[in-house]
Amino acid sequence: MSKYLIAGNWKMNTNLDEAKKITDELHGYKDFDSEVEMLICPPFTHIGFLSELVDLSRVSLGAQNVHYEPKGAYTGEISNEMLLSVGCEYVIIGHSERRSYFNETNELINKKVVNSLNAGLRVILCIGETLEDRESGNTNKVLEEQLTKGLLGVEETINLKIAYEPVWAIGTGKTATSEQISETHKFISNFLNLRFGDNIIKILYGGSMNAENAKDILSISNVNGGLIGGASLKPESFLSIYNSAIELC
Ligand code: 13P
Repeated sequence: MSKYLIAGNWKMNTNLDEAKKITDELHGYKDFDSEVEMLICPPFTHIGFLSELVDLSRVSLGAQNVHYEPKGAYTGEISNEMLLSVGCEYVIIGHSERRSYFNETNELINKKVVNSLNAGLRVILCIGETLEDRESGNTNKVLEEQLTKGLLGVEETINLKIAYEPVWAIGTGKTATSEQISETHKFISNFLNLRFGDNIIKILYGGSMNAENAKDILSISNVNGGLIGGASLKPESFLSIYNSAIELC
């Protein structure tokens, strides 16, 4: 099993040509290391095309969302089975942008988590507190609720990852301090240990991670990778973050 997972969440960015160009540059990287897994999560429309372009053992592909039903009359939705059929291995579930703009609740997110794991996808469950939560001292309470409800009924954790993304650090250029990351990742790790026993679940940090701060963040204990937004659209920055992880192995 790799030591770090470096994942790019492209969000609603890139047309297909731009996506191919970024993917080509990442895929051509000379110093891939089996200790560090590289994952990109482009928009749905590009996944099938990109899986034809890449050696999936070098660059893994993930989606940014999924519907929990396997098929049916759900106009505009995409199922686990569809994702698997185009070479998609991972899915991000419960991103704060989905929680806030699309009203995704912990209950809905839990259905997605359970069904994606059952379908055989690897799941990155995102959790994170708002600035208001943090300032009112409710960070751990909010995270505990997101974890407890989001993971209800989950027993098998081999395909599960958690991404801690403080909402106030996403796309703002503000990262949490090392102390905040360290304390919060420790809290999440303790929760997972209690919930699952001896666990090997990777905990990724996300929120304004970039080429400059990646090494410091990735060196914090209980940080097992990054979920990167803006900087993942620039191959040079994303590869620099990837390389920081290699240097720490
Ligand atoms: P930024 O890296 O752009 O802050 O986004 C983080 C994120 O939301 C990744 O899922």
